[in-house]
Amino acid sequence: MLQWYQVDKTSSYQINQIYEVKAGNHRICIVHDDSGWRAFSRKCPHAGASFVTGWCEGEDLVCSYHRHRFNLNTGKGCSVQGNFIKIYPTRVEDSVLFVGIETSRSFFTQLFK
Ligand code: FES
Repeated sequence: MLQWYQVDKTSSYQINQIYEVKAGNHRICIVHDDSGWRAFSRKCPHAGASFVTGWCEGEDLVCSYHRHRFNLNTGKGCSVQGNFIKIYPTRVEDSVLFVGIETSRSFFTQLFK
């Protein structure tokens, strides 16, 4: 089930700068690039570095540590990397950014709903 979380006013962020933000209990990264708002995993799957020091090149996110690249539409890493990141849907309402995160219901949540 997709749950939408309010992040902050869009005016709080500079274009092409990657930020780590809270969306509910989740910590993720966001960026506003030429294609609009993007939301994705905050840590690189290669060695766990934060993407905050990374940058965007076209449709790719580049990790600053060892330069692994990830497509910001699909989350897929470059073919030789064999890794991926999570991509989250975004929407803006009244100049406020929202991020959608898939929540899974635990066995006990389903049992007692
Ligand atoms: S930690 Fe990101 S490329 Fe190595």
